[in-house]
Amino acid sequence: YTAEKYALKRGDYGALTQDDQNHLISLVNGKGIVGEKELEGYNVDWMRIVRGKSELLLKPETTQQVSSILKFCHSKNIAVVPQGGNTGLVGGSVPVFDEVILNTSLMNKVEKIDPVSGVVVAQAGCILDQLNSELAEHKLMMPLDLGAKGSCQLGGNISTNAGGLRLLRYGSLRGNVLGMEAVLADGTIVDCMQTLRKDNTGYDIKQHFIGSEGTLGIITKASVLCAALPSSVNLAFLSVNAFADVRRLFSRARDDLGEILSAFEFIDNSCLVCLEENLKLTPPVDQSPFAVVIETHGSNSTHDFEKLEAFLESVMNDGTVIDGCVAEDSQKATNWWQLRERMAESLMHDGYVYKYDVSVPLDKFYELVTVMRERLGEKVLRCVGYGHVGDSNLHINITTPAYSKEVDQLIEPFIFEWVSQVNGSISAEHGIGFKKTQFLHLSKSAEAIAQMRLLKNAMDPKNILNPYKVLPLL
Ligand code: FAD
Ligand code: MLT
Ligand code: ZN
Repeated sequence: YTAEKYALKRGDYGALTQDDQNHLISLVNGKGIVGEKELEGYNVDWMRIVRGKSELLLKPETTQQVSSILKFCHSKNIAVVPQGGNTGLVGGSVPVFDEVILNTSLMNKVEKIDPVSGVVVAQAGCILDQLNSELAEHKLMMPLDLGAKGSCQLGGNISTNAGGLRLLRYGSLRGNVLGMEAVLADGTIVDCMQTLRKDNTGYDIKQHFIGSEGTLGIITKASVLCAALPSSVNLAFLSVNAFADVRRLFSRARDDLGEILSAFEFIDNSCLVCLEENLKLTPPVDQSPFAVVIETHGSNSTHDFEKLEAFLESVMNDGTVIDGCVAEDSQKATNWWQLRERMAESLMHDGYVYKYDVSVPLDKFYELVTVMRERLGEKVLRCVGYGHVGDSNLHINITTPAYSKEVDQLIEPFIFEWVSQVNGSISAEHGIGFKKTQFLHLSKSAEAIAQMRLLKNAMDPKNILNPYKVLPLL
């Protein structure tokens, strides 16, 4: 258990009595799960690192039910952890002690799609893939895409402000979420359900819930500005010799592909080796120090293909790219995307993964991987780099067959201090969750953290919502 591993002290919360349990289950018409053993998969996170011992999970179907649950828990001082698809990578979605799990998976209705404005109104438990299938019928798509799309939910995406593979083109959820309904710790329902792009009527309350990882309220519904489903999609898989060339390639792609560039991702050679060894996935080009995936989204295939072809010819002629190919059909493109999207899964096969998700200015970007490799040497199985180059977002992952305290202590706090010194961010897109609270000060000033505490105290004075997460423990 995580609490035991870190010798944490349980907050001064009410213990769940049999009567409390019965009452809470009646509030969701019996849609709950009882018993620590029965909750095995919900008590542990995707990385299998943070593990709690909740004995009660509730699956509300309506906002009213979420409100009743929180009202009751607030009155009894019972702690609650919001949970969506449980694909979060910082341990925010699972209990640390015995918090009641409020799981949104039954709140999965798409309420409205407006094909003209491109706005979708959906409940928090809608799975990203499911949303995209319904939107495709209206030639629309969600403005984000990520490897966890088969399980992650809208509420989880919004509360982590998830970035993903196409942020460079479609922007962040902070900009694309137009409206929201959320329930506060005491059960109050806050209705900010606008579907407008422009609304400058004072404080933007919904932003409090975006990226706050379930510590300020539970998102029950949201309206999101979707993007047009592109009728022309191209994918190029390229080999590059040095990271300086990856950087140059990005700058060239932005200039030459302009408005059609929709993704610019990289994986290093150690990633390719891992994908081959652990998932039997092979790249469509010969092995090289770096592989780059460039995608275009547009509406005119002749125009897009001509543009991409001219760009590729130019970067191959000047030696920026040493080898490359373009997918001839969508099946090939899907297969090639697997090499990037399944990186997280592939690393899990090694045993234990030390996962870091940092923003680093592009001139220092890959240096961190080299520095960590030198520091860790033979003590680790792999130290790999991949990520969203277009957003200056590096995923550096280190693996060992099993957890090693020695390796852990060689990595932390060194890695976060290194990132802080180059003015990066210790968490680019995954959030703070349980795992990074003690390093928050390396990316936020003392005054900013004090403001965060003021907000938390104002919105959840009893601290019952997702305790032990985001803010450093006092
Ligand atoms: P959960 O994991 O269930 O919860 C995440 C956090 O949100 C928790 O703190 C939880 O308490 C809170 N929460 C959940 N639902 C609600 C709600 N309704 N109201 C309030 N709080 C809530 N992230 C990226 O940013 N970019 C990526 O490219 C990316 N790729 C990924 C690929 C894989 C294979 C995996 C496993 C994860 C990836 N992630 C990525 C992590 C990412 O944060 C999540 O996948 C996703 O956004 C979380 O959604 P979820 O429904 O699983 O939320
Ligand atoms: C990704 O971009 O693949 C995700 O953020 C998951 C990860 O970092 O492993
Ligand atoms: Zn990512």
